[in-house]
Amino acid sequence: MPLIKIPGMLDPHTHLRDLHWSHKATFASESKAAIAGGYWAVFDMPNTAPATTSAGRLREKLKRIGDSAHCDWGLYFGASQVDNSAEYAQVAARACGLKIYNNATTGDLLIESDAMRERHYRAWRGRGIIAVHAEGETVDSILRLARKFRQPTHFLHISSEYEITALAHAKEEGLPITIGVCPHHLLLTEADLPALSAYGLMKPELKQKRDQQALWRAIQRGVVDVIESDHAPHTIAEKTAAAPPYGVPGLETTLPLMMQAVADGRLPLPLACAMLSRNAQKIWRLNPPPDTYTLVDTDASYVIERETLYTKCGWSPFEGMRVRGKVREVWIRGQKVFDGEQVLSEAGFGRNLFGAGHES
Ligand code: DOR
Ligand code: ZN
Repeated sequence: MPLIKIPGMLDPHTHLRDLHWSHKATFASESKAAIAGGYWAVFDMPNTAPATTSAGRLREKLKRIGDSAHCDWGLYFGASQVDNSAEYAQVAARACGLKIYNNATTGDLLIESDAMRERHYRAWRGRGIIAVHAEGETVDSILRLARKFRQPTHFLHISSEYEITALAHAKEEGLPITIGVCPHHLLLTEADLPALSAYGLMKPELKQKRDQQALWRAIQRGVVDVIESDHAPHTIAEKTAAAPPYGVPGLETTLPLMMQAVADGRLPLPLACAMLSRNAQKIWRLNPPPDTYTLVDTDASYVIERETLYTKCGWSPFEGMRVRGKVREVWIRGQKVFDGEQVLSEAGFGRNLFGAGHES
């Protein structure tokens, strides 16, 4: 059985919920899902309830995740429509970055004014970088800010041919930008929607075959930096209700889906591993602690089933798909935290990769 070793798998784009949305998922449940998916660390987005848009809210969230996480983590601070940049000095050292929502999605953090976007760009001096939700032509608006302020900017969940083409040109121009792509945009299209119904609804939405092909070409050319899950659990009841929310879980399916793509000859194994670990480490200037790695059996083939998932939401848009690559062991800081069946680390074992973690 060919075991490969991936040092420090890192997903910089997840929604772990908790707080007032603990019915969807919790820091404990989703950090276990992260470990079962092979991850050392995950970064949590600020569109929680309540949103992470003040120093006080960040402090509360750090305390809560510090008490509950089974893996290491980072928390994003959220740029708000009502200018909250005065808080940056207090939060910058403890956040993994500033998230700016420039198109509508779950929660109410949306900034549509270029002037307000610019205020946030001008003010952010974090240890972490700026991460943006930008779709379609909004990508061009953010590129103008990246060009003007030279602030390192990570473009999350890029999904269309238009966007990836604009970003590839911006990289050629030398702008300090990086690109994340999600498995659902690589493996599903809008043609899957009739079968998936609300389980195929997320932001950005599923696109056409030509968009998907453009993303794969960009990956093969080395233009894409990170494969990120955009893990966004909602309950089955919410997803089957009349107005279902956007978002799909992905922490436990990202690695095997990419290993299947390797087996299918769609990308080389070293590139897949880099997009799941090293590239994000470099973007956030992190080194995994000693003895922090994942052992994956790349030959093991199985079908994704909801019964085996750790995520509290208990479903996946990839159910029924055959994938390859079973996580056999996960080690963090010299401690075995997953044995292929069970998560072994305690709640509170995880650390904040940006600062002290447990707040007093
Ligand atoms: O589909 C999505 N769901 N996209 C996002 O950007 C947010 C996420 C959520 O929080 O549910
Ligand atoms: Zn997201």
